Amino acid sequence: MQPDHVRIFDTTLRDGEQSPGATMTSSEKLEVAKTLSRLGVDVIEAGFAAASPDDLRAVKTIAEAVGVTGVEGRPVPEPPTICSLARAHTSDIDKAAEAIAPAKHGRIHTFLATSPIHREHKLRMSRDEVLAKITEMVSYARTFTKDIEFSPEDAGRTEMDFLYEALQAAIEAGASTLNIPDTVGYTIPNEFGERIAMIRQNVPNIENVVISVHCHNDLGLAVANSLCAVQNGARQVEVAVNGIGERAGNASLEEVVMALHVRRDLYDITTQIDTTQLTRASRLVSKVTGMVVQPNKAIVGANAFAHEAGIHQDGMLKHEETYEIMRPETVGAGKTQLVLGKHSGRHAFANRLAELGYAASGDGLDKAFARFKKLADKKKHITDADLVALVSDELHQPKEYWRLEKIQVGCGTGMPTATVKLTGPDGRTQIAAEVGTGPVDAVYKAIQSLVHVPCTLLEYTVQSVTEGIDALGEVSVRVSPEDGDRSPDKINPQYQHSRARVFHGHGAHTDVIVASAKAYIAAINRILAIREAQQDNEAAGSAA
Ligand code: KIV
Ligand code: ZN
Repeated sequence: MQPDHVRIFDTTLRDGEQSPGATMTSSEKLEVAKTLSRLGVDVIEAGFAAASPDDLRAVKTIAEAVGVTGVEGRPVPEPPTICSLARAHTSDIDKAAEAIAPAKHGRIHTFLATSPIHREHKLRMSRDEVLAKITEMVSYARTFTKDIEFSPEDAGRTEMDFLYEALQAAIEAGASTLNIPDTVGYTIPNEFGERIAMIRQNVPNIENVVISVHCHNDLGLAVANSLCAVQNGARQVEVAVNGIGERAGNASLEEVVMALHVRRDLYDITTQIDTTQLTRASRLVSKVTGMVVQPNKAIVGANAFAHEAGIHQDGMLKHEETYEIMRPETVGAGKTQLVLGKHSGRHAFANRLAELGYAASGDGLDKAFARFKKLADKKKHITDADLVALVSDELHQPKEYWRLEKIQVGCGTGMPTATVKLTGPDGRTQIAAEVGTGPVDAVYKAIQSLVHVPCTLLEYTVQSVTEGIDALGEVSVRVSPEDGDRSPDKINPQYQHSRARVFHGHGAHTDVIVASAKAYIAAINRILAIREAQQDNEAAGSAA
């Protein structure tokens, strides 16, 4: 018997982007979408078109660039379905329809809460009003495309009898996928699996639609719940790379995919994911969202294939399967090797990057190669990890409004002082010096005295990329602008102004003070890039 296919619906660009600080620029979103396409995901939820003109544009760009022919390296010929989320409002559905229109396969995903707590306190709607709205909005969405997904939000806490009615209404109105979200991550695996089994038994014509699940990780059970749902008949799983998403995040794409792959003996299920692209996708998403992957994270964490205990190492040397249930190569995590050195040429450098999954060319390749040469002068052995940090630092940065030219710090028990030289958006080079509580504080004050984008430093982390005194240091920062810039809450507009926006930046260098300055400037450039895109969209909107 042929194994069943489970569709992988990726929501990194929608639910994932709702994580505080994970804001991506449009070009970063496009890069992530291309990577998801190469990974082989069936559906890319590219955003929430009605959230802002910027979001609409981003979904549309992805529909045009990825949704027509896919991208080179995609494991299947058909391009992915491009989906936009929409609340159950005609205006949201209109925007979603406009955004997905260029895609060969476009989907509108509309949702309405069904649980008693949401009906009473958020929507203030009766059961009958909710049912009528579902019928009305799914039917309306159906006038644009046949591919309609409906989600009863907070299905995990919805009374079963009402859930059946809501799903039946959506099917009758023309939905082709019914998604069962555990919005608040409340359910536990057997219970959630049982819900799926009961839905299959009790909703008329359910066999004509695809059952999907969307699990949040508030109790750390999102992956387990999703897998239990698959065992009970769900045939689409909604996931995000690195498990990012609202609060504790969504089910992690790499964990769901590898559980289905490693335990195919049990599930008898296939996905069309090219698992060798998983590590690359994880790194890219981590860089562009600033969400650092914990070292012990399953599948893609730095320690996921590291064996420390003597007994384990001994076992591994005798037979890999003693302590390894999958090979690192299967998920694209090659062994750390000594690869290149001072005498390596541009060609060898580009080749190694391509082997690691980075398609660098032109200006980006030139800049990364120049940095590689500088690093090779200081550091004898350059590992894959160094290369990845370096190339991510060069390729995954927002537009450079401000650029660091030089930096000088004096520190000790006296007054830590920093002098910085920056080139600004107008091409002029300026110098400033400041005193701070420590060298990083002094550097950040000096940068601020030139850029004038006041912001609060919320988080500062530094880690070394590889071992050794000459290791590259990677700094990540999260900052929040102090000018009242607020993020629109993409799901609940009543909280529109409740959350200060958070922006991230990262920098890598053998000198951690330089890496710190680069990370801070990258965060400021990100603020400026997103503001400029918003202004452009507003201007385009008022001109239209
Ligand atoms: O968690 C949730 O309920 C959602 C819906 C919009 C599907 O993200
Ligand atoms: Zn969600």
